Amino acid sequence: MPRRFVTERRRDPYYRAAQREGLRSRAAFKLTFVDDRFRLLRPGARVLDLGAAPGGWSMVARQRVGPRGLVVAVDPRTIEPMDGVRVVRGRVGDPSLPERLGSPEFDVVVSDMSPRISGAYATDHARSVGLVRDAFRLARVVLARRGAFVAKVFDGDMVVDLEHELEPSFVRVRRTKPTASREPSSEIYIVGLGFRPGRGVVLPTGRETGAPPAPAI
Ligand SMILES: C[S@@+](CC[C@H](N)C(=O)[O-])C[C@H]1O[C@@H](n2cnc3c(N)ncnc32)[C@H](O)[C@@H]1O
Repeated sequence: MPRRFVTERRRDPYYRAAQREGLRSRAAFKLTFVDDRFRLLRPGARVLDLGAAPGGWSMVARQRVGPRGLVVAVDPRTIEPMDGVRVVRGRVGDPSLPERLGSPEFDVVVSDMSPRISGAYATDHARSVGLVRDAFRLARVVLARRGAFVAKVFDGDMVVDLEHELEPSFVRVRRTKPTASREPSSEIYIVGLGFRPGRGVVLPTGRETGAPPAPAI
């Protein structure tokens, strides 16, 4: 690991807080922020966490939905077992995934999926938009009526079109940027509230770059 990265990480208050509180990632604070603002993770809710490794978001979701809730965590990377979280090793975009989730419906679908970073901003932005489309295509199948959808995207010129694609399917679509998102980072979160099944269309993934989606990190 590069020395500069290690030094910056030690100075990062969110990294230090995550270590202190036994959280699996500093990313956990981003879901906390989104949920404090929109109140999605209610006791008893069923939550699907996409791009869940190493498990910071799932842990927050588990704490908030409580023992009557359900949390299913999906990632191609290994997620160490967590009390009360069902782990499904798999990739969003795989057509066999919905039947492996173990619940026909979820009240909240969250995605913190990131593409492999190329360093070319336009490419990374487009790939990240592609992952939101993949997440939303799955959400359309498994999200309960009036459910909520949260997805990370690298901000850029395709975000407005993406929001327009989501808008017919939700009562409201909002953007938010958690304070734990590093300042130079371009990541934002799109939040869809009040899912309306059967409305709108999702454009095919791959349209962003004209190439097949990038392999996940
Ligand atoms: C920033 S990490 C998520 C951190 C997580 N929210 C946490 O709090 O621990 C992004 C994750 O997205 C996953 N990912 C990328 N593409 C994916 C895909 N198509 N399906 C599922 N997960 C994917 C990566 O494997 C990676 O683990």
